[in-house]
Amino acid sequence: MTRILLLGGTTEASTLARLLAGAGAEAVFSYAGRTERPAPQPLPTRVGGFGGVPGLADYLRDEGITHVVDATHPFAAGMSRNAVAACAEAGVALVALERPGWTEAGGACWTRVDDIAGAVSALPERGARVFLAIGKQNVADFAAKAGNFYLLRLVDPPKDPLPLPDAEAVIARGPFDVAGDRALMQHHRITHVVAKNGGGAGARAKLDAARALGLPVILIDRPAVPPRKVLHSAEAVMAWLGHEADLGV
Ligand SMILES: NC(=O)c1ccc[n+]([C@@H]2O[C@H](COP(=O)([O-])OP(=O)(O)OC[C@H]3O[C@@H](n4cnc5c(N)ncnc54)[C@H](OP(=O)(O)O)[C@@H]3O)[C@@H](O)[C@H]2O)c1
Repeated sequence: MTRILLLGGTTEASTLARLLAGAGAEAVFSYAGRTERPAPQPLPTRVGGFGGVPGLADYLRDEGITHVVDATHPFAAGMSRNAVAACAEAGVALVALERPGWTEAGGACWTRVDDIAGAVSALPERGARVFLAIGKQNVADFAAKAGNFYLLRLVDPPKDPLPLPDAEAVIARGPFDVAGDRALMQHHRITHVVAKNGGGAGARAKLDAARALGLPVILIDRPAVPPRKVLHSAEAVMAWLGHEADLGV
């Protein structure tokens, strides 16, 4: 029998969950448990890590999983690497549902960097007003450039004081639009935007808003993941499952 594990945490994963539920597929949705109120899914849902590669391989065997769809965020590379290794170990088919990265539109001013350290280096020493649109992880790294103001956008209110001396958090959950992001940046007199190249329409708004305002963007490239089958839409994954897993879709 076909049984699918869908590794989620993205808009695309939620889209695929709806399609799988609509097709009557036998599937489990998995959240890391990073946010306090994850969006409810139309599939049985589990929350929390598996315990590395051995834990995931055990889970796949114990639950009789035949197919894994990795629809995690492109920067959730630890989970994606684990999925490649555990699926190989357990003999389970794996496909990644990955949104394409953003490409620079005319008139934009982007500096591409490899990682968080590169983004920190690319910022001025002091005096900049930075929209740090990278979520809650890695924020403390920017303390190395403590002379700047930082605006954070977080899904949940922070439990601890922000690890930066001059910072403010807005609490909001995407998708976002260009008009809203433009107004946010103007209100906070932003001079620089730091973002991860996550891809996707809702998260792109900040880049288009920066372009409209003539602001420089420091864009962090995606971390590397071992070779695996990659598809770019929920519909393509359904077609692959229909073929591979005889889902009848
Ligand atoms: N990183 C981002 O910028 C970003 C942005 C938006 C959404 N997200 C979502 O947030 C979640 C965590 O991201 P991350 O960057 O912390 O990931 P990560 O660094 O790759 O993952 C760290 C650990 O978290 C657990 N984990 C991650 N995703 C999981 C899932 N869907 N189900 C069960 N366990 C999961 C795994 O723990 P074990 O080793 O114990 O199995 C994994 O080894 C992901 O689901 C991702 O899609 C991340």
